[in-house]
Amino acid sequence: MTTPSLRRKNNRRSTNSNPNNSQKNQMAPYASSFYSKFRMSPFLISAVLFMSVLILLSVSLNMRSALGSNPNVSGIYSVDAVNQYPHDPSAFTQGLLYAGNDTLFESTGLNGHSSVRRVALATGKVEAIHSMHRSYFGEGLTLFGERLIQVAWLTKTGFIYDRNNLSNIKTFTNPMQDGWGLTTDEKILFGSDGTSTLYQIDPHTLKVVEKHTVKYKGNEVHNLNELEYVNGEVWANVWQTDCIARISGKDGVVLGWIYLPQLRERLVATGHENVDVLNGIAWDPKQNRIFVTGKLWPKLYEIKVNAMKKPFSGDIESLCMLPPTHF
Ligand SMILES: *[C@@H]1O[C@H](CO)[C@@H](O)[C@H](O)[C@H]1NC(C)=O
Ligand SMILES: *[C@@H]1O[C@H](CO)[C@@H](O)[C@H](O)[C@H]1NC(C)=O
Ligand SMILES: *[C@@H]1O[C@H](CO)[C@@H](O)[C@H](O)[C@H]1NC(C)=O
Repeated sequence: MTTPSLRRKNNRRSTNSNPNNSQKNQMAPYASSFYSKFRMSPFLISAVLFMSVLILLSVSLNMRSALGSNPNVSGIYSVDAVNQYPHDPSAFTQGLLYAGNDTLFESTGLNGHSSVRRVALATGKVEAIHSMHRSYFGEGLTLFGERLIQVAWLTKTGFIYDRNNLSNIKTFTNPMQDGWGLTTDEKILFGSDGTSTLYQIDPHTLKVVEKHTVKYKGNEVHNLNELEYVNGEVWANVWQTDCIARISGKDGVVLGWIYLPQLRERLVATGHENVDVLNGIAWDPKQNRIFVTGKLWPKLYEIKVNAMKKPFSGDIESLCMLPPTHF
C-alpha cells in the first residue's frame, strides 16, 4: 500500500517543479544550428526537440528518486544496544517500568507463573515478588504514585498493589475489552487490549475517559501490547512483531516505527532458541534511558534509538502491521 501512494506523490512533485520551459529554451539554438547544417525538416526538428525533452525529463525523474528520499521521511528508526543486563529467563514479561534508583517493576504472565516483581536493574535479581493465583495471567503494569496497577489477560479483573510491599490492596474492573498494556504520563493511564484501540483511563475512577484508534497512514494497527510513555509519546510493542509503534497519545496517530529484530535474533543465534517475542519497554526520564526486553529473554537491554541512515528497504507495514487476532 505504501509504494503506490509514494509513487503518486513523487510523480506529482516532479511534474509541478520540473523546469520544462528553461530546458526547452536552452535546446533551441542548438537545434536550429543542427537544422541549417543537416537541412532537417521542421517536422524532424519538432520530433528531436520532443524526444530531448522526454529524455531530460526522465533523467531528472531518476535523479529525483535516487536523491529525493529523505531517510527520516518515513519515521523509521533502528536501535543500538548500549548496555545489557541479566533478566530472569523464566519471566514471561508482560509489563515493565522503571521506578528510579536502578529498580524496575515487572509483571509476568502464564497461568501458574504470573507475578508482580521488583527487580534490580544491574543484576536482574528479583528483590520482591507477589505471585498471582494460577487462574490469572498477568499483563500490563504501571506505577501511579505509590500504587502499582495491573491488568490481566482474558479477565476483566485488574489489581492494585502497594509499591513498597507488593501487597494486593484491591481489585478493580478493567474497563477495556481485555487486559494487555498499561502506562501513564502521571496524569492519565493509557491502556491497550490487543486491538487497535488506545484507551485513556482515569487513574482514580479507573473508567475510560477517551479512546483512539491507532493508525499508520490511515490503516489500523492491531495487536497493541505492552505500553510505555516515553517523552510525550506512547510506545507500544506490537504483538508477534519486532516493532515498537511510536504513537501520539492525543489522537492515536503512529508518529514512527522502531524496528529492532536484531536483539531477539542475536539471542536465538547464541543458543537461546526458546525466547519469545520482544515485549517490555521501560523509560528512565531522569537519565533518559530506554530499556527493552522480551518474554523469556535472558537479557534486558538499554537501547539508543536512531533514525535509519539509509532509506528503509523493507516494507514496514507488512513487518509491523499484522491482521487482528481474536481470543
Ligand atoms: C536504592 O536501592 C538500593 C539497593 O537496592 C537500596 O539499598 C536503597 O535503599 C534504595 N534507595 C532508595 C532511595 O530507595
Ligand atoms: C503494605 O503496605 C500498605 C501501605 O503502606 C499497608 O497498608 C499494608 O498493611 C502492608 N502490607 C503488608 C503485608 O505489610
Ligand atoms: C525525524 O523527523 C521527525 C519529523 O518528521 C522529527 O520530529 C524527528 O526529530 C526526526 N528525527 C531525527 C533523528 O532526525
